[in-house]
Parts: sequence; structure tokens; C-alpha cells
Amino acid sequence: MSKFQPVTSADPNAPLPGVVGTGSAMTEIFRLVRRVAPTQATVLVVGETGTGKELIARSVHVLSNRADGPYVRVNCGALNESLLESELFGHIKGAFTGAIENKTGRFEAAHGGTIFLDEISSMSPKLQVKLLRVLQENEFERVGESKTIRVDTRVVAATNQLLEDEVEAGNFRDDLYYRLNVVPVYLPPLRERKGDIIDLARHFLKRHADINKVEAPEWTAAIEPVLMAHDWPGNVRELENYMARAVVLCRGGTLDAHAIGLPGRSERRYKPAASSKGRPGDLPTLVRQIVRMGIQSLPDGALHDRLVGDVERELIEQVMSDCEQVQVKAAQKLGINRNTLHKKLSDYGDHATPAAEKV
Ligand SMILES: Nc1ncnc2c1ncn2[C@@H]1O[C@H](COP(=O)(O)OP(=O)(O)OP(=O)(O)O)[C@@H](O)[C@H]1O
Ligand SMILES: [Mg+2]
Repeated sequence: MSKFQPVTSADPNAPLPGVVGTGSAMTEIFRLVRRVAPTQATVLVVGETGTGKELIARSVHVLSNRADGPYVRVNCGALNESLLESELFGHIKGAFTGAIENKTGRFEAAHGGTIFLDEISSMSPKLQVKLLRVLQENEFERVGESKTIRVDTRVVAATNQLLEDEVEAGNFRDDLYYRLNVVPVYLPPLRERKGDIIDLARHFLKRHADINKVEAPEWTAAIEPVLMAHDWPGNVRELENYMARAVVLCRGGTLDAHAIGLPGRSERRYKPAASSKGRPGDLPTLVRQIVRMGIQSLPDGALHDRLVGDVERELIEQVMSDCEQVQVKAAQKLGINRNTLHKKLSDYGDHATPAAEKV
């Protein structure tokens, strides 16, 4: 059977509908989603942008016994606190300026189905409290009303920030985090599951050819090393965009990496995107070389402070020397405050010249 055909849920490892991936990471995700979907558990989907979080959230809904109920998506990062509050929980007429009629919130709209809360990390502390209550008690009040509303809505949330970090930084409530993180589904970036790239590329070529009602460009083995060498910072979405472009630009011909703007293998390898602009000896190139050396030679954990500190100290010492140790001149040349410069020089200790200091 082709891996793209509809599958029955009898096979616990079967791909999810419309989700491509044969490597171990995706197979593990298929298994997890198939197990959790039929339950009431809250699911937290975590992954970089474009890794397929929304696709997974939909799969949880489609494979649940709520599939016939509503699926409602709310992007929590797109609205400010008060708009998001009334979007999620609704409001009554007159609750605030502009509330000219009653509004049903998305939690109510998703009753009997699933609500997908995207970019959950951007939710404000006040709304985090309200969400926690819905998760714990299934109840809330509309904005401007004291009547309590009960709903039966399953929550799936997504984030591309590590919520643990947000909890640590005091931006996200730990009790809400634990409540959301009942079943985490982590989607690895595409560069960590390169085995899926070719299948995905073929899938998107066909998909976009079908959408445009044209023939897909002919697949060529020459494109494969190019696809494999790219780092895919935009993950699956970036790959999809290249293939959508290929359908348009290579119409009737063969797939051509150059035509669709994919960097060739040798141009790309081991170079960050910006390096194509660099020339040997220019400043960005030199900075990149220094940073690369720092990464290779300095211990983990000390990297930022040591590297940035060493570069800054070298800069200050050379400028001080050029300015014959006159701090006011050096501060001017550097474009930093004189007191800041003085403090840095004192921190360097033996390199500061307090006795002979010329100001
Ligand atoms: N494994 C996959 N198989 C098929 N299509 C995929 C897969 N993963 C992602 N896609 C497609 O890639 C695009 C981006 O996926 P999606 O919108 O789910 O990413 P996301 O993680 O929600 O991104 P963002 O954080 O930017 O919102 C969509 O068109 C989606 O259908
Ligand atoms: Mg998304």
C-alpha cells in the first residue's frame, strides 16, 4: 500500500491523514497521536515554525470521537489581551466600548469539539488564569457577565517557544504549563529528519500540480543532494514553498534547483545564508571566522560571555592605544559613554592605567 493512501486506524503506526513521514521520528509521532486522539487529554504540540504543528492539531481532532463536532482555531499571538479575552470567552453587549452586541466566544463555539490554541506562549497572565480554570473546571464567564458557562471542549495547544523557558522566566504559569503539557508532542525540525525530505518534496510537487491543474515537473535525481544539503530553517513550510514555486517555474520541464532559487550544494554547504554576501577579508567574513573559532575552542556555557567579552576588550584596548590612553577620546571614537568605558577598564584591572590615566 502506498504511504499516501488513506489508512485505517487499525494500524497504530499508520501515517496520519495528509501527514507525510516515514522516518522514526514521524512514525513515533503517528503512534503517539493515534493513542492520545481518542482520549480527552490536553495535547501540547511543540516545534519550530513550519514543522507541522497545525497539521498535528487537526489530526488529534479528526481521529477523536469529536471529529463530527467543531474544530476551532485561535491564534493567541495575533490579538491583544482584551480582544483575545472576548474572542475566547465572548462578551455581552455593553461590556466595553465597542461591544455593541453579544458575542459568543470560541470556547462555546467549540463545544462538543476541539479548540486549537496556537502560539499559547503569548497569552497574558490574566488570560492564563482564565484558561487554567476552563481546563480544570470546564467553566468560565463571558466578559461583562457573572453567569458561569460550562463547556465540553477539548484543548490542543501549540508553541514554538520552549514553555519551560517561559515558566522559568516568569512569563508563563507553571500550573497552566503542567495542565497543558499532559501529552506533549514534539515535532523535530526538518534538518533533524532529513530522511523525510524527498517524500515530502514529491508530495508537495503533486499537491501543488493538482491545485494548479498542471503537470508536475519531472523528478530528477540531481535535485536530491541539493534538497538534502539545505538546512531548512523554515522547515516543512519552506520545502513546500520551493515545490509550489517549482510547479509554476519548471512547468512542463524537469525540476531545476537553480530555477526555483534553491542554493546549489557547493554554494550552500556549511555556510550560513548571509555568508554568500561576504568576501574574504571583509568585516562580516572576519567576524564569522572569529565566531566560528570561538565556538570550536570555548567550553559550552561560557561561549557568549567569553567570546563577546574578549572581542570587546580587544576593541577597547586597541582604541585606547590609538587614542594614547585618553579615555574621553576613546569613548568618543567607540561611541560609548565615558563612565561605561572607565568601568570596563577598571574591570580589566591590570590593563587599566589609573595612575597615568589621561582623561
Ligand atoms: N509531515 C507533513 N506532511 C505533509 N505536509 C506537512 C507536514 N508538515 C507540515 N506540512 C505542511 O507544511 C505547512 C506548514 O505546516 P503547519 O502550518 O502545520 O506548521 P506550523 O508548525 O503550525 O508552523 P507555524 O509555527 O509557523 O504556525 C502546511 O502547509 C502543512 O500542511
Ligand atoms: Mg501554525
